[in-house]
Formats: sequence, C-alpha cells, structure tokens
Amino acid sequence: MDVGELAMALDSDRVSSNMSPRELVLRHLSHIPTLGLKPTADDVGTLEQLRELLTDNNVSLIAHYYTNPAIQSLAEESGGIVSDSLEMARFGQRSESQLLIVAGVAFMGETAKIISPNKRVLMPSHDATCSLDIGCPASQFEEFCDNNPDRTVVVYANTSAAVKARADWVVTSSIAVEVIEYLDSQGKKILWAPDRYLGSYVQGKTGADMLLWDGSCVVHEEFKAQGVLNMLNIYPDAAILVHPESPSVVIDLADFVGSTSQLISAAKKMPNPQLIVATDRGILYKMQQAVPNKQLLMAPTAGNGATCSSCGDCPWMAMNTMDRLLDCLTSEKNEVHVDPHIAEKALVAVNRMLDFKK
Ligand code: 13P
Ligand code: SF4
Repeated sequence: MDVGELAMALDSDRVSSNMSPRELVLRHLSHIPTLGLKPTADDVGTLEQLRELLTDNNVSLIAHYYTNPAIQSLAEESGGIVSDSLEMARFGQRSESQLLIVAGVAFMGETAKIISPNKRVLMPSHDATCSLDIGCPASQFEEFCDNNPDRTVVVYANTSAAVKARADWVVTSSIAVEVIEYLDSQGKKILWAPDRYLGSYVQGKTGADMLLWDGSCVVHEEFKAQGVLNMLNIYPDAAILVHPESPSVVIDLADFVGSTSQLISAAKKMPNPQLIVATDRGILYKMQQAVPNKQLLMAPTAGNGATCSSCGDCPWMAMNTMDRLLDCLTSEKNEVHVDPHIAEKALVAVNRMLDFKK
C-alpha cells in the first residue's frame, strides 16, 4: 500500500474539522508546549548543587531519554548515563557506585535493584509508573500463564518485578525481535506481555507464534497515521522514526522502527533534512544534539493528528523533576526495594536478556 492509498484507507478515521490538513499539522506543531532543547536558566543553581552532591558522594545518575533536559545533561556530566532502558540496566550493573539514582519510571528502578541487589537504588518519585506496568497485574498475568503452559513466557521490561518473576525471558524494545527470532528458531511458541503493539510488530517481523496480552502505552498509542501523513505532505523530504510501542498503522509508515537509542542512531544515519519522530518528546534533547542541522518534528497525536492532547509527553517520566531529584539525593528517600524472593526469580529472566547480546 503506498502513502496515497493508506491516506484513503485511513479517511474513515478522520474527525470532522473545518481545518485543512496543513492547518491541522501546523496547529499541532504550535500546540506542543515549549520543551527547551537544553536546561533552562532556572535550572543552573540546582544543577550546580546536584553535580557536587553526585560527585562528592560517588552517586551514579542513570536517566532515560524521556526525562527533562536538565536531568539528562546532569547524568552525562556527572559520569552517569542517558540511554534506553536496556543500557540503563547494563550501566547500573557495571557502575562502581554503590548508590544509584534512576531517573525514569518504576520498572527501571526495580530492574536496577534486581540486577544489583547489594547497591542502593533511589528514584526521584515513587509514583512514576507506566501504563504497561499498571495494565498487567501479576495475579491476572499468572492466570494467563497458567492457562497456556505450553508457551515460553516473554515479558517486556516495562512490567513489575512480580511479572518478571513469572517470565522465562525479559526483553526491551532494542532486542525483542532478535530474542523472539531465536526462540522461534528453537520451535518455541510464545506468550507475550504486556504491549500488544510491540508484540504484533515483533510477530510481523519474525512470524513467530505469539499469544499477546492486551496492554498499551498511553503515550505511543496516541500517534495517528493520518496526522503523520498530513505532516509528510508538508515536509515531503522527511524521514519517519517510530518507537515500536506505536500502533501498527503508524509503524507501517516508518522509515525506521526502534528503541530510543536506536532512533537516535538512525537519525544520524539518515540523509533527510527533517525527521518526524513518533515517541516521547524528551528524546528531542539528545536527538537534536546528535543531528544539530536537522529539523525534528514531533509526530501528531490526538484526533486527526492535530489537537495534541498528549503531545508525546509521558506523565510518569515528567515526575522526574529537579526538585524531586534534589530532595531524593539530599534525604536519600524513595529507595527501591524488591522482595528478595521475587527478585531472585526475576533475575533469571533478566539475565537471559543481558547475556543474550553482551
Ligand atoms: P526504550 O527501551 O526504547 O528506551 O523504551 C522505554 C520506554 O518506556 C518507551 O516508552
Ligand atoms: Fe510507559 Fe509509555 Fe511512559 Fe514509556 S512512555 S514509561 S511505555 S507510559
């Protein structure tokens, strides 16, 4: 299906509006709240204080690309890391610091603790969770597994420690296709949870027999194919970069699909002057540093792709504020604890992922 045919097929999706597609796209771009592509002047004093505290106390700050630019820059300058969820896990393990601060969401802090049980792991907010994690309660998930005992259980990293403890494998979006390809080649049938969009993307790439849990990311599922096509009409030379938690109609339009780190690498390799980016807008900070001469355009979200209700902004990642980070560091609060019995079981599935591709 070419772009024109896809646009027609998607016509039925359109919400009624008197605005032209061009106006809708421009309105979307103007509605995206200003996200500084660098730390603001207000951050400077706090940044200085945080930098000193991190270095003096030998603390590693491990930040995800979706956190605010000040936190990302601080993580890098203080010897920590900004990365996708797989590299966050690996970094926590190899860091010599005995105190890790994970600026991200709950599953990232828990994974760090599972891998490094002897280190202390703190998070700026205890409430920062993830719709995929919330949408896959351990008790229901166990029932799902019990009802399908012939399947190898593979869970996305965006799950609780208790769900990981019931899994055979944990994967992140950066290696999901490779792991499922491997399991398929071993003749395994897969039970997959929780993201149905990532699951069906992996299924399409590998042809594996996969039974999918019905979960989704509230941020990525809002990206709209029609909105992306409208944007492409205005920027015909743009390449489309999509995180695989997005709906398949959006993935089908992509020039590249991958994890956050992989999207940044792809942005560097692509010759296009503009890049339409379908993932959380926090990624723009590092992506713009990687491609200073390219124009980055956030893919449209709500409705016909123009009204922008979420604007690719994860509400839980946004809980990682500078004030909370300072508070967490000075009072050493919000420590992550994982029941050792659960952690021991979850580690088996996490280690399979870490050992799969060193
Ligand atoms: P990555 O592993 O690509 O960083 O994804 C984590 C995530 O939560 C995406 O929404
Ligand atoms: Fe979870 Fe989506 Fe937020 Fe990522 S962006 S942490 S998948 S809710």
